[in-house]
Parts: sequence; structure tokens; C-alpha cells
Amino acid sequence: MSMNVVTLLYLIASVCFIQALKGLSHPTTSIRGNLFGMVGMAIAILTTAALIVQLSGGKAMGMAWVLLGLVVGGGYGAYRAKTVEMTQMPELVAFFHSMIGMAAVFIAVAAVVEPWAFGITPPPVAAAVGVQTPEGAAIIDGFLRYAIPAGNRLELFLGAAIGAITFSGSVIAFGKLSGKYKFRLFQGAPVQFKGQHMLNLVLGLLTIALGLVYMATESWAAFLAMLLLAFVMGVLIIIPIGGADMPVVVSMLNSYSGWAAAGIGFSLNNAMLIVAGSLVGSSGAILSYIMCKAMNRSFFNVILGGFGGEAATAGGAAQEQRPVKSGSADDAAYMLSNADTVIIVPGYGLAVARAQHAVNELAEKLTHKGVTVKYAIHPVAGRMPGHMNVLLAEAEVPYDQVFEMEDINGEFAQADVAIILGANDVVNPAALTKGTPIYGMPILEAYKAKTVIVNKRSMAAGYAGLDNELFYMDKTMMVFGDAKKVVEDMAKAIE
Ligand code: TAP
Repeated sequence: MSMNVVTLLYLIASVCFIQALKGLSHPTTSIRGNLFGMVGMAIAILTTAALIVQLSGGKAMGMAWVLLGLVVGGGYGAYRAKTVEMTQMPELVAFFHSMIGMAAVFIAVAAVVEPWAFGITPPPVAAAVGVQTPEGAAIIDGFLRYAIPAGNRLELFLGAAIGAITFSGSVIAFGKLSGKYKFRLFQGAPVQFKGQHMLNLVLGLLTIALGLVYMATESWAAFLAMLLLAFVMGVLIIIPIGGADMPVVVSMLNSYSGWAAAGIGFSLNNAMLIVAGSLVGSSGAILSYIMCKAMNRSFFNVILGGFGGEAATAGGAAQEQRPVKSGSADDAAYMLSNADTVIIVPGYGLAVARAQHAVNELAEKLTHKGVTVKYAIHPVAGRMPGHMNVLLAEAEVPYDQVFEMEDINGEFAQADVAIILGANDVVNPAALTKGTPIYGMPILEAYKAKTVIVNKRSMAAGYAGLDNELFYMDKTMMVFGDAKKVVEDMAKAIE
């Protein structure tokens, strides 16, 4: 296969990736986006595999390694993607990022040890001591070896360091998100200690210093020490962040993994890695920014950690005792079936209860009775970007009933009923009050509806740990219980 063909195939794959990102920006085009992504990835993998086999001179061993990687990696990835629960998606993504980070580290280490195998330097040749050495080469152990050019050293250093931080950081993020492990660092609650930020700063500076030593001297020891520090830093950066903030962190690590891949792509002179890495790096950075903006928090506020950790892990401590109006699923069903317009606000609790199918059934019954039903989606409702859109799509909720915050906020005032299912912060009017932790966060204006029904299990706070005035309003009726059970009961009552 000529290099021109390889370049052309890589170009086609790159265009597919760009189309994939474009398609994934809206639910109606997301299937097309996914298809483009799959086709692009298949072209990229097969071209690279063919290239490796060609470069290894068609040796059986080289082909066997490539095949093994494709079968084991591809098989495991397909199995995990098929069996993953929707609520486990963020941890699966964290797991994949850790793999990308480690791959970047492996490639960088291999390229530092044998740069000629990657075409970075000419291969070493046996040479007698004292022989005239060309510029940039030295005789080591009887072999004439060429130094890795300065530019490549920088790329390898950056790729390896970012890859190591991505790997260990993603492992901690995976542990925190899965919530299955007893190990303290894998707990959702932030791990904080005195002088933590100072320690991170010192370690960061030391890593850079060791990287500079490696670049100046090509010292293998400095490279290894730098890698070790980067692994430790990945852990230290992530442990102070609360479990519920992990999606922002996962998207940030996603961005890191992309830059690590791009860095390595420059060293290997592989255009595909550079393009794909840059796309992942920049889209991850933009996504992190969008999430922070939708939560009205700065990126540093998330990274410095602590926020929401307890609220997210304590299962919600009881708030101060104030009277609320509460009713049964039957009461709610009565109100819903007598309304002209109903706006459903899904939140994290809906995902936990896996009530999406029940909600769709409820909406269908209401629509059948002539009620107009719309869904209002907050950009950070749930725990990962697009969480609610994906849940509703899974339950086959028609796209034309699903509205983004900016498009639906103007309609709450005319709605007869706003029904809030397992959501809290995204409808909390405290965001309008100066001095509250969520002040300035855009919210769904459910409090403007003529009647409000709120379903949750208790009066516990949401992720931000704040009480919600909406629950105490005269027009609000609380329906306590697990979202799935309550919604199923409502649907039954409507029948
Ligand atoms: P939350 O504010 O976390 O509220 C969820 C509510 O669901 C809780 O009050 C909880 O109350 C209730 N709940 C839990 N399990 C339930 C069940 N089985 N049945 C019924 N209710 C249940 O969720 P939200 O309104 O979706 O807001 C999301 C929050 O996460 C925001 O603060 C956002 O900034 C943050 N966040 C989001 C993202 C992304 S990208 N989506 C990323 C990081 C952080 P009970 O315990 O009383 O049931």
C-alpha cells in the first residue's frame, strides 16, 4: 500500500470523524453521527493495521500481534458497550480514557527505547570505538546511535506525561463513578488534606523540570521519574473532586487523552492520530466548558474540588422540617388528566429509578386523552451531558416532544402542570438568589407553571446540597416515592 493511499484513507476517516461530531450534536442526527464514527474508525484501524503489517515486512509475528490487539480490544469493547447500563455510561467512558492514556504511555516509552522502530532516527549500526561519528550521533555499546531530535523529545515527553495523568486520573474517576469499591480513593466523597494544592503545584513543576532534563540529556532515568510523577499527579488531581462532579472531570480527561494521542501522533508522524487526537482534545475541552457554564461554576472551581461530594454520597441528609403539601399518585393523575398542557421535567432521580419507559407510557396515555405533553431538558440534568436526552430516546419518546431549556422556559407560565421527576437543582429558584452556591445557574422555570407536581423519595437535597423553595410553594404538590413506582401508579390511575 503506497503512502498516498494511506494518506487518502486517513483523510476519508478524518472527514467521517468530523461528520460524526456534527451528527452527534442533535438527537435526530445522532444515529447518522454514530454511523459516520464507526465507518471512520473502521477505516482508520484497518489502514493502520495494514500499514503496521507492511512495515513489519509481513512477518507472521507482527501480523499476529495486530490481530490479537484487534480481537481482544474490539471484542471487549463491543461486549462492554452492549452490556452497559445507561447510568454506568460515565464510568465506561472513564475506563476507555484510561486505556487511551496508557496506550500513549506505552507508545512513548517504546519510542524512547527504540526510536528507530518508529522512524524517528536511523537504525543503530555496529561501529568501532574512535570512529568518526556524524553530528547528532554517538557510539554506545559498540553501536552508532542517533539522538532523538529535540522536537520529538518534546512531543514524547508531553504525550507520555499527559497520557500518564489521563490513565491514573481516569482510574480514580472510574472508581468514584462506579461506587462499588471500598477503597478510600474510589469513594465519591472528596479526599482533601492540608497543603494539597501546594503539593500538586510542586509535583507539576517537578514533572516539567524532569521533562526538561530528559529533553536536554535524553536521560532514560529522568524520563521514567517524570512518568512516575505524572502517574501520581493524575491520582492527586482527581481525588479531591466529589463523585457527582466526575462527568466534568471525565470530559476533561477525554480532552487530555485526545491531546496525548495528538502529541504521540506528531512523534510517529501519523496524521490520523494527530487529527483524531485534536478532535477529541478540542471537543472534550468545549464540552467541559459547556458543562461548567450550565452549572455556573468555573473550571477551576470543579478542579479544586469538594463541591457536592457529601450531598451526592450521603443519599441526602434531611433538611429543616417545614410543612409541604403532599399527595398520592392518584391525586397527581387526576390533576394531569384535567390539564391542557403538561411539561415533564426529568432529572437524575428518573435515571436512577430507570423510569424512562414508565414516563413515556404516562405521556402516551395523557396525549391519548388530548393533553399536550412536552419534556423540558436542562443541559446538566442528570450526571452526564445529554443524560436525559439519551434516556428519553431509549424509551422512544418522540423527539418533537423534547425541548431544550431556552426553547421551553417561555412556556412554563402557560402550562397547567409542571411535573418534576427526580430533578432538584435544575428547577431550584435559589439560582435566582444572590449568595447561594448555584446563584446564576440557568434553571428550568417550572415554578412559573400554574400547578407543580414534584416526585422524589424524601425532602433530601439534590446534588448541590441546597433546600428547594419550589417544594414549599402553595401550588406545589409533593408525591413521595421511587420515580418508577410513582409514575407507573399515575399511568394506571389515568387508565
Ligand atoms: P439532583 O439535583 O441531583 O436531584 C436529583 C433528585 O432526585 C434528588 O433530589 C433525589 O431526591 C431524587 N431521586 C433520587 N433517586 C430517586 C428515585 N429513585 N426516585 C425519585 N427521585 C429520586 O438532579 P438534577 O436536578 O438532575 O440536577 C443535576 C445536578 O447534577 C446539577 O446540580 C448539576 O450541576 C449536577 N451535575 C450535572 C452534570 C451533568 S453533565 N449532567 C455533571 C456534573 C454535575 P431524594 O433523595 O429525596 O429521592
